[in-house]
Amino acid sequence: MSILLLIFVFVVWSHNVRNSMANGVTLESLRLSLIRQEDTIIFGLIERARFPTNSPTYNESYVSTPTFSGTLVHFVVKETEALQAKAGRYANPEEHPFFPDNLPPSVVPPYNFTEVLHPPAASININKDIWDMYFKKLLQLFVAPGDDGNYASTAASDLVCLQALSRRIHYGKLVAEVKFRESPGEYEPAIRAKDRDALMKLLTFESVEEEVKKRVAKKAMVFGQEVTLNNDDNKGKYKVDPLVVARLYGDWIIPLTKLVQVEYLLRRLD
Ligand SMILES: *[C@@H]1O[C@H](CO)[C@@H](O)[C@H](O)[C@H]1NC(C)=O
Ligand SMILES: *[C@@H]1O[C@H](CO)[C@@H](O)[C@H](O)[C@H]1NC(C)=O
Repeated sequence: MSILLLIFVFVVWSHNVRNSMANGVTLESLRLSLIRQEDTIIFGLIERARFPTNSPTYNESYVSTPTFSGTLVHFVVKETEALQAKAGRYANPEEHPFFPDNLPPSVVPPYNFTEVLHPPAASININKDIWDMYFKKLLQLFVAPGDDGNYASTAASDLVCLQALSRRIHYGKLVAEVKFRESPGEYEPAIRAKDRDALMKLLTFESVEEEVKKRVAKKAMVFGQEVTLNNDDNKGKYKVDPLVVARLYGDWIIPLTKLVQVEYLLRRLD
């Protein structure tokens, strides 16, 4: 009898612990995932930097098919997303398509992803902003001018960067959920008042942001150096400028992640 009671108490206790951690997701587990995603983003940039600008990739007059009008990169992203949607990619709440309209249904059995997010979160997708930032601002900062004809590979490596950035930035939803569960009372007044500025202030930790920028710049130095047996040969030459990576985080990734967090929190009590 007392064993049964103990088991019952344990089950209730572990249920409560799990709830306060948002189904096993903690700020620490999110932090580790965000740090790991830095590697993916930096390697993505290094891969894209292998190719010069390759401007026909971004020129609407380059692609001509009767069923599609747009640039080659638009074509590659849209068609790849359609294929990946069939393979179930967007069943995962962490994935967000750049062209969500008319995606084909998944052909694979659904996986029961743990529900962490408040359901209205599903409607938040800021990929349009990420697309514009990447093509209008970021690309020209780390890619050399020129044309080597590798347009399809160029578009494919753009897609890898875009998907890594999108996943990273939309992680703001999970971060906001876990922060909210930790101290709902801190956020509720600003949410009810729909006060974006107050929410932004609650979500801003300048010293942490500085630390992130320093770490990604250091990673860009480590990952982007030429590795030779005579390792003094290539001091100071990096495949992607570490300052550009720090700027990518400081000017765009961190602010866009906070935008996702604010949008999420504004819907958190719906
Ligand atoms: C796009 O390609 C067309 C045809 O090759 C060319 O005339 C035009 O200048 C290009 N546009 C840009 C912005 O490079
Ligand atoms: C999915 O998981 C939840 C929580 O673990 C469970 O309650 C639910 O029955 C599962 N649904 C399916 C279809 O397996």
